[in-house]
Amino acid sequence: MEAENQKKTPVYILGIESSCDDTSAAVLKDGVLMSNVIASQAVHSAYGGVVPELASRAHQQNIVPTVSEAIRRAGIRKEDLSAIAYTRGPGLIGSLLVGNSFTKGLSMALGIPMIEVNHLQGHVLAHFIQEPDVEKRVPQFPYLCLLVSGGNSQIVLVKAYNDMQIIGQTIDDAAGEAFDKCAKVLGGPYPGGPYVDKMAQNGDPKAFEFAKPHIDGYNYSFSGLKTSFLYLIRDQLKLDPDFIEKRRCDLCASIQRTVIEVLMQKLKKAVDDTGIRCVAVAGGVSANSGLRQAFADYAAKYGWEIFVPKISFTTDNAAMIAITGYFKYLDGEFDDIASTPFSKVEL
Ligand code: KG4
Repeated sequence: MEAENQKKTPVYILGIESSCDDTSAAVLKDGVLMSNVIASQAVHSAYGGVVPELASRAHQQNIVPTVSEAIRRAGIRKEDLSAIAYTRGPGLIGSLLVGNSFTKGLSMALGIPMIEVNHLQGHVLAHFIQEPDVEKRVPQFPYLCLLVSGGNSQIVLVKAYNDMQIIGQTIDDAAGEAFDKCAKVLGGPYPGGPYVDKMAQNGDPKAFEFAKPHIDGYNYSFSGLKTSFLYLIRDQLKLDPDFIEKRRCDLCASIQRTVIEVLMQKLKKAVDDTGIRCVAVAGGVSANSGLRQAFADYAAKYGWEIFVPKISFTTDNAAMIAITGYFKYLDGEFDDIASTPFSKVEL
């Protein structure tokens, strides 16, 4: 069956992403994106964070309409599909199980192979998603990728589509988590990153100084920064109960500047040590306007060739799962029907 499918042209890959709180499905035709549908779950905002049980229930409700819509928008029939790529992990196990079980059912029904995709690898390879009628530059191997999301902060050395090495990572909180927690202290919504980004536009990034981590190598730490932020607010509120209200924008601009400085300092060290000047950013936090500006500034100052994803490819999406699946399809790397999802795994 697998060899037969590989001969099919064009190659249509259905990608399915369900690792956290977004149900997404995308269709690629010979590596070019035909559709990318994302059903987000508003239910979690009332709780200030993702509730795993609610997430998996919402995936169950969303997966059939989301996949149907992606196939419809691609202008194909499900029988045209060559293979289904799905996120096997890491992520919330209940959420992953929905994508894994759905993929098994559909692949058996259609008689096509399933392809397992590592969610983190998907983020890193999002830079290779091609769109119709858009001439797009792609990174050359090897390149460095700063992968920053709600659950990860890593510097990845990408040697090939299927050969990646994490050379630095957070030893505690992720950058996105730091944004989310600081926003929560300020009474902002979940997720907090976009809120901090928006408030920061009208604030002074130098208004407050926060303790920066001193960690060896290319590793990160954000828990001390979060505590430093919390203590400043606690102390200032004792002096002025309206402190947050009065200084909200300055607080957001200052914490954002500090997170970006920490991220960029280690990334620059990695560039200088490896001599690799092709540098990409990926993951939800790569939507941050300050981080995007920092990439542009470093490119101008240090001669980096940078790759910053389109906003819709920064947060969790199935297009990145589909493109990773497409490369695996070309290599004949298929998954077993007995495979189960995993909540934790490295690249
Ligand atoms: O990649 P992602 O969608 O999910 C994970 O796999 O974690 O990333 C979500 C994270 C959240 O922490 C969110 O606050 C952060 O990305 N984020 C941002 C921005 N947009 C999303 N952080 C800072 N600035 C933004 N504009």
